[in-house]
Amino acid sequence: MQDAKEEIKSRLAVEDVVGQYVELKRSGRNLKGRSPWGVDKTPSFMVSPEKGIWHDFSANKGGDIFTFIMEVEGVGFREALEKLAGQAGVDLTKYRGGDPQVSRKKSRAREALALATKYYQVCLTRSKNVCEYVFYQRNLNRGTVKEFKIGYAPPSGKALLEVLKKRGFTEEELDAAGLLNRFKSDMFRDRMMVPFIDTTGNVIGFTARILGKGEPKYLNTPDTLLFNKSRFIFGLYQAKESIRRNGFVVIVEGNMDVISSHQAGVKEAVATSGTAMTEQHIKALSNLTSDIRLAYDGDAAGVKATERAIMLAGDLGIDLTVISDYHGAKDPDELIQKDPALWQAAVQKSVPAVEWLLKKYEESVDLSSAPGKRKYSDVALKLLDYIKDEVERASYEEKVAKKLDIDVSILREKGERLNKKLEQSKRHLKKPKTEVKNDTIRKLENNLLALKIFGGVSKTQIPLEIPEDETRLAELELIFNSEHQLSDNTDYEREAKELLIRYNAMTKKQRIKELSEQLENLSEDNEEYDKVLREIRDLQQSK
Ligand code: UTP
Ligand code: MN
Repeated sequence: MQDAKEEIKSRLAVEDVVGQYVELKRSGRNLKGRSPWGVDKTPSFMVSPEKGIWHDFSANKGGDIFTFIMEVEGVGFREALEKLAGQAGVDLTKYRGGDPQVSRKKSRAREALALATKYYQVCLTRSKNVCEYVFYQRNLNRGTVKEFKIGYAPPSGKALLEVLKKRGFTEEELDAAGLLNRFKSDMFRDRMMVPFIDTTGNVIGFTARILGKGEPKYLNTPDTLLFNKSRFIFGLYQAKESIRRNGFVVIVEGNMDVISSHQAGVKEAVATSGTAMTEQHIKALSNLTSDIRLAYDGDAAGVKATERAIMLAGDLGIDLTVISDYHGAKDPDELIQKDPALWQAAVQKSVPAVEWLLKKYEESVDLSSAPGKRKYSDVALKLLDYIKDEVERASYEEKVAKKLDIDVSILREKGERLNKKLEQSKRHLKKPKTEVKNDTIRKLENNLLALKIFGGVSKTQIPLEIPEDETRLAELELIFNSEHQLSDNTDYEREAKELLIRYNAMTKKQRIKELSEQLENLSEDNEEYDKVLREIRDLQQSK
């Protein structure tokens, strides 16, 4: 990928890329403009065409064209690379793979996992009682078992290990694929194996269910080179066609709910596997469709998960709906076992998530009592805060006020009071201030490094490593040229000394603050507690 980066850089001028977002004017050898983050009062954004870099002195950010796109568009490196490759007319497929060593490891892991999947599939056909579990207890049919590549891991501790070793895999390779436990034996034994399949159809891990009762019910592949649980969406490979065609997605809690749902003809079902929903999950799904329906379990945990999902989505401006018509079943799988038609109908009857949650809150308190009303209004207001659209929010406020049998103005008053209180407590935590401080520290670091490398400061001991990255060095040179070289004060040693005093004081304060925060989260009988406390005292006493 390094080659692709270089090729793109050689074809695109930094001033042209940045120029799409910032109006630039020539200023000596550099170009100047206003910060695209709108934090400067005078132009503080600099571009060096010679070095191919930019630096924003007010926002204290800088780098090359890739970091610029990442920052200004709020995207990851991969997306920035693709975007700029498009502009430069560079075909990325020619550069596939990135670090050859990493891509070799990845492809070995994929091969091992593909063979493991086949092996487990064969083991399933050979074991009568496991077939009984899969086909009769779980009610899966042959088509489903084939589509989801379901298999069985035998009970012996080294069965898979032996098979794959014979095929030329080393223990290290199998470990990297997540197939070994810490005793270097098979990770999965005597379990029904359900592969994690990525969107290109490769197996990247497994979730393994115990046959019957026992703990843990499911054993999952840990995060590996291939598998990342906060990104992975179970069933998406099998569901994406239907999601696109029918314009909606159903998120269920369990992987088995996904499989049953597909078998019941609702092929738009996916799950976040063995973890709560993350921003990455919801962003990926919202790229496919804006109609996202949640079908979590009906228990308290399911309500909590729904609540979290709504707030997460709310922050991203995405509306969710909730499927809840389970006819007493605890999850979609159980409902499907009753009658697949009930599930098919339930999916068509999803309600706005806010409405559903308000109803849940209502059921959990006694609305005829004053404390009940207070509790209900507390949670309801917190929820309504996540609705971005004023009109929609006003309409829910009316509904809630009606439930409470009060005037809506009283509810709004309470809402404002709670918001103020929240802000005060936030201010009390001095969160924004810390960020400013971090920013200042970073700025001081830049200046100190610039003086050390380009100002030749050596008498003053600057405790910062000289970076090796060329872009970073070019950026520091730009900082040196515009902030130090041109200033009247060219006694760099003295300047560095003064900056260093401020830097040391600030990092010390910062460290104490971090440690104090740690301390707050530790109980006094935790052995870490004394250690952290001692470090704080030592720092406070040092000059
Ligand atoms: P559930 O216990 O609700 O799963 O956990 P389920 O689908 O109803 O399981 P069955 O029907 O009894 O087989 C929901 C999800 O939580 C994760 C799994 O991803 C599961 O699909 N989980 C659950 C684990 O990772 N480990 C566990 O021990 C239990
Ligand atoms: Mn279940």
